[in-house]
Amino acid sequence: MPVSANMGKFIVIEGLDGAGKSTQTEILTEKLLSRGVKVINHAEPTESEFGKMCREVLSGRKKITKSQLALLFTADRIEHNVSATDGINMHLQSGDTVICDRYYYSTLAYQGVDVGIDWLKSLNLGCEDIRKPDLCIFLDLTPEKSMERIKANRNADEIEIYENLEYLKSIRKRFYNVINSLKDSENICVINADGTVDEVASRIEKAVNAIY
Ligand code: TYD
Repeated sequence: MPVSANMGKFIVIEGLDGAGKSTQTEILTEKLLSRGVKVINHAEPTESEFGKMCREVLSGRKKITKSQLALLFTADRIEHNVSATDGINMHLQSGDTVICDRYYYSTLAYQGVDVGIDWLKSLNLGCEDIRKPDLCIFLDLTPEKSMERIKANRNADEIEIYENLEYLKSIRKRFYNVINSLKDSENICVINADGTVDEVASRIEKAVNAIY
């Protein structure tokens, strides 16, 4: 039997802040677990040293250049793939499914505003240590709804530098551009995240069923 037959699946959940990634990831995880699929939940930025620095910058506590931030996210992603203790590769090779909240699509959309998209693409898609997911689900929500949900769920001092309406509008456009440019070479599924939790969950389940 080829080795790949035993490999777990790598699923990425993307979307604007507030699109429901965490809730939907939890539901999807439960559904897969109930089918006997072992699931590992990860998120980027990770808890690596690189990931921690990304968070310091996002919160405004630390200042670095935009290109440095793009490199930090990418370095964090490489560590995330190759880590011998909790890496994506390791888990997939054990046959487990990894669901990751955000991946290189976020770098292309968020950092692509500030630094060259071609540079970011070659850094991420051209890197042999950065794996292409089996499925990327993009939870799509209007920036207005996204902002409403962010405000309802957080204190004002917890809202990060990327969370304002104009910014979300431009990020959504960026995500669309990124998805359009990758849709022929990757398995990306855009899912309408404006619905009840159950409605969105069953849209996601349909997309996920197609890769098992
Ligand atoms: P966080 O609050 O950790 O999680 P989330 O909003 O996904 O629930 O925020 C992560 C932030 O990091 C989010 O605003 C998007 C940003 N980000 C980038 O700018 N580039 C990246 O490559 C990644 C992975 C995230």
